[in-house]
Amino acid sequence: MSSDIAADMSSMSLDAAPGAHKYSRCFSRVPIAKVLAQGAIGTTAIVGGWVKTGREAEKGTLLFLALNDGSGPENLQVVVRSEVYDLGDLRATGTSVVVEGALVAPPESAKGQTIEMHATRVIACGKCDATTYPMQKKKQTLEYLREKIHLRPRTNTIASVARVRSALAYATHSFFNQNGFLYVHTPCITQSDCEGAGEMFQVTTLLSGADSKEALEPTVSADALGAKRAEVSECGSGIKALKEGGAEPKEVKSAVKTLEKLKRELSEMETASRKIGGLQRTEAGGIDYSEDFFGGKTFLTVSGQLQVETYACALSNVYTFGPTFRAENSNTTRHLAEFWMIEPELAFADLKDDMQCAEDYVKFCCNYLLENCMGDLEFFAKMYDPTCIDRVKDIASTPFGRVSYTEAIELLEKAVADGKEFVHPVSWGIDLATEHERWLAEVHFQKPVCVYNYPKDIKAFYMRLNEDNKTVAAMDVLVPKVGELIGGSQREERLDVLERRMTESGLNPEDYSWYLDLRRYGSVTHSGFGLGFERLILLCTGMENIRDVIPFPRWPNNCADGGSK
Ligand code: 4AD
Ligand code: MG
Repeated sequence: MSSDIAADMSSMSLDAAPGAHKYSRCFSRVPIAKVLAQGAIGTTAIVGGWVKTGREAEKGTLLFLALNDGSGPENLQVVVRSEVYDLGDLRATGTSVVVEGALVAPPESAKGQTIEMHATRVIACGKCDATTYPMQKKKQTLEYLREKIHLRPRTNTIASVARVRSALAYATHSFFNQNGFLYVHTPCITQSDCEGAGEMFQVTTLLSGADSKEALEPTVSADALGAKRAEVSECGSGIKALKEGGAEPKEVKSAVKTLEKLKRELSEMETASRKIGGLQRTEAGGIDYSEDFFGGKTFLTVSGQLQVETYACALSNVYTFGPTFRAENSNTTRHLAEFWMIEPELAFADLKDDMQCAEDYVKFCCNYLLENCMGDLEFFAKMYDPTCIDRVKDIASTPFGRVSYTEAIELLEKAVADGKEFVHPVSWGIDLATEHERWLAEVHFQKPVCVYNYPKDIKAFYMRLNEDNKTVAAMDVLVPKVGELIGGSQREERLDVLERRMTESGLNPEDYSWYLDLRRYGSVTHSGFGLGFERLILLCTGMENIRDVIPFPRWPNNCADGGSK
């Protein structure tokens, strides 16, 4: 480090400019949200951001910039005179600027504005060519924005979603931390299928070999294999003849050795001949995964539950929060191929504790947004869903409904008898469809409702079997706007029952021996649930499509990081 820089750095004080961002000291930039909140009229400040709109006035000598830096939904109005900077470079939507100016009270005619900046210096400017920039200021459809995935954070909508998403993640960690839960990182790559629904993405390195040109060439020709087989058979007959002719034991021994060598070579050739299209096959004809990276068939996780249970059964209350992957071919507004899930697991806790925890957690998140993201909620209420703030308030303050699956079916059947038409027929034993879930939450209960004790045949193997032998101690939290937000259960802690349920569900208990160990050694009543993070964001913002509430949505045929595919 040169001595100049060292001297410069040691002289820097953390309070370089009042309100300046601690990590933007190269510019002494104050976040715009802070400028707007503090209303320090009469002072000067430096702000940086991107131009939302630029409007010229007074015959091109004056420019009104609406500037936003992502710190909040509101823009700062910056007034720049032509003698300060070339206004033509600043005007275009998308231009980045760092500007210094005086904070002044806006003229009375400027409605809804509390403060504005009169620029004295433009410190930096990243121009934006309005003729090619895809994010023009006119309102774009959400579908269009999904094709410009790398630029869409620059829109008000996606920026508000990003702030709400970050706030809900923070609220999640706060809630579990405050309630004595440990955060456990469960793996993305696994050989266990938690939900047993066969919707897993496979992880393999085998295919890279199958892609080469050589892979198409047979490694061993049928002729060569036939010749080796004949050689083995001939050698075998030779030994027989030697023995029958009373040959010396030494001679027979040597011939047997040769036969063994030939048999080994034949076996290797047979294995090689089963490498078809670059993929090694087993004798039965399936792909030989012992050759794969992990030495067995491997997937991306659909849920961290099974692994997080291992920590719950040692540390009591834990949770995992990470990405999960499902290869279901669902092109709906509620499904993603990659989504984030929060999965708490509570030891010494039953289904009632589980439902209470789920309710308290969702309420905590709603309260957190009301206290910390009101500006963004107001934006959603204005632009997308006028009921969103009331809904978040109601959820935060009203106890959730509780109803058994059997009672829920009765309610739905009564609705049908009274004339309600559903696409999917209702009868005991069905998996509730979104239309049923939404009717229960939106029409009947008009608030979130926990439905519990589902038929065992429609739920996963790990859920605790009830006394009736027909239902399991499962619970789903259904909410207005979305339908299923949470799925959870009390876990089957009895070894014999769990083994039976696995077999019934088509799983091999031997493959899950490690999971069964939790029941073999110090088994405990325990429960947990999974909340779909993006669905929580839909609930709180009123956004309609789950693809708009995750930065890089993945769904069938779409895995774009930028531009359209
Ligand atoms: O009901 P699910 O499948 O439950 C589990 O995975 C359990 N192992 C959780 C547990 O008990 N630890 O999924 C939980 C939640 C659903 O209620 C839903 O909100 C969300 O995950 N979810 C999805 N979200 C977006 N896209 C998908 N494809 C989703 N599948 C489930
Ligand atoms: Mg579910």
